Amino acid sequence: MITAIKNLKYFTDMKLIFKNIKLTTLFCVVSFFSVAQNPLFIPPTLSGNNFNLDVQMGTTQFWPGINTPTYGVNGNLLGPTLVVEKDSEITIHVTNHLNSTTTMHWHGLHVPAIYDGGPDQEIPIDSTWTVHFPVLNNAGTFWYHPHGLGKTDLQVSRGIAGFIIVHDSTEATLNLPSTYGVDDIPLVIQSKAFDVLHQIAIATEFDTLMMVNGTVNPATNLPAQIVRLRLLNGSSMRSYNVGFNNNMFFYQIATDGGLMQSPVMLSRLVIAPGERAEILVNLSPYLGQTIGLMCFNSTLPTGIYGATTVGNGMSQIPNYNLNPLNGSDFQLLKINVTAQTPNPVLTVPSSLVNFTPWNNLQSTVNRTFTFAPLQSGINDSVIGPFAINGVQFSMDTVNIITYKNTQENWTITNNTLIAHPFHIHDMQFYVYDDNGNTSVPTLQGWKDVVLVMPQTSVKFVTRFTDYTNDTVPYMYHCHLLHHEDDGMMGSFIVRDSSTVGICNSGTSTSISVFPNPCRNFIYLNSDFKCTGYCIYNLLGECVQTGIVSNENLINIQSVKAGCYLLRLSTITNKILLSKPFIVQ
Ligand code: C2O
Ligand code: CU
Repeated sequence: MITAIKNLKYFTDMKLIFKNIKLTTLFCVVSFFSVAQNPLFIPPTLSGNNFNLDVQMGTTQFWPGINTPTYGVNGNLLGPTLVVEKDSEITIHVTNHLNSTTTMHWHGLHVPAIYDGGPDQEIPIDSTWTVHFPVLNNAGTFWYHPHGLGKTDLQVSRGIAGFIIVHDSTEATLNLPSTYGVDDIPLVIQSKAFDVLHQIAIATEFDTLMMVNGTVNPATNLPAQIVRLRLLNGSSMRSYNVGFNNNMFFYQIATDGGLMQSPVMLSRLVIAPGERAEILVNLSPYLGQTIGLMCFNSTLPTGIYGATTVGNGMSQIPNYNLNPLNGSDFQLLKINVTAQTPNPVLTVPSSLVNFTPWNNLQSTVNRTFTFAPLQSGINDSVIGPFAINGVQFSMDTVNIITYKNTQENWTITNNTLIAHPFHIHDMQFYVYDDNGNTSVPTLQGWKDVVLVMPQTSVKFVTRFTDYTNDTVPYMYHCHLLHHEDDGMMGSFIVRDSSTVGICNSGTSTSISVFPNPCRNFIYLNSDFKCTGYCIYNLLGECVQTGIVSNENLINIQSVKAGCYLLRLSTITNKILLSKPFIVQ
């Protein structure tokens, strides 16, 4: 009997092993101990006021002799670094040479909603989208990447991502390393998954190949002086606990939105997808030596994708432990320390810029955002799909209306078992409470992404300034790209003032207008009880405003033939609905 049980156990173990063999052949599990080093690619820069970005298809050799289809901007993989000056007016032409639609989002930049490059600003195949805006952000490290509905993970993973470096006059007065590619180095850290045909794969747990700036096993020469590394986590899912193999200290000088008040001395820094951090490293003592920029994910906190464990005994990411990167320490970049440059920077400044965060006690609006799995399946609390406040992203719904110059406190609560990096477009924010901690040193700066650990809350203060648009929304979402594509996203619009009537929503989160096209009357589905509406023409003018009848009927006999947008909003639960319709 005992033997029979043992045999049974043996049999199930073997089944498991076979399953794993199948899985490992399905995806290339690449050894990250491989020794051959490749020179670190430094993306070329573009500067000035006028930029042309050609989004195109190409191939890249991640392994010698093997061509993998990739996407890039003005090249085969990644994109050029845009170097811009604060307060300059810039124009960017984005041309889509892919065989599918794309978008381009200026992550972290404060730009008008119509130029934000979210899912609403699709660029059709073979066409050019032109944006024009002043650079209002302070000196810092930002980035651009596609943001199409359900397409972000695929297009970013295939290679579309580039840096935006903003310089300003305050930064210029500080003695910071600023020679691009010499002592000021952009580093986009990414893990990628591949299938057996060496095609880039998404939505798998086998993102086993690490690369920095698209270079696998990268090595670079850096001078024996203070060097600035601009870290960007451009991965779909993976976070990195960054440090050096000699455990030397380094100094964080910038968060997502720019320079901090003063440098923060660290030996480890966790960087989550979408986040940036600029660090200064003192290489002066190490001339002639080799130093490893490392990822120490054996000590990455539980619950963050990349750590030893995500979830609990009950809820697991399938095959998580088969990915050799998870819970491992590995080298990101080999640094050969070479001779000093002329006029090297040799000291770390003791202070940087004035950082005066908004005071959360002066906010007039409080909002709460709760992450939870959409369904209650066994592994759903780690794999999703996830909802924010119970709803998933819909192009037909604007989740939040806010008003220009409103200061708001947002409380983000993560009721799942995986950490989510929460990102908002348009504005930077200040985290005044991270799970009860009111002054985390690495959060003492402007942020646009914050990692919300499982079963905790983060509170930040933000303020909506400058740009209003009655119909075009900005996004907020999880920056784990698979989660974002799965619907863990919402939208908000920033308006000048309240002009639209109020309705009380029923249980549905979307509304339909019928018939469409229509004549004389339009009807709304019965779940909504609305008291007011506005009908906008294509110029954005409100041509008719009024009260919705008890039968959910709107008389449009005086509305001329054409295309219109019907807008209804609820003030209580902050849902605004926009529905296009045609009058015949
Ligand atoms: Cu970096 Cu909404 O994205
Ligand atoms: Cu997420």
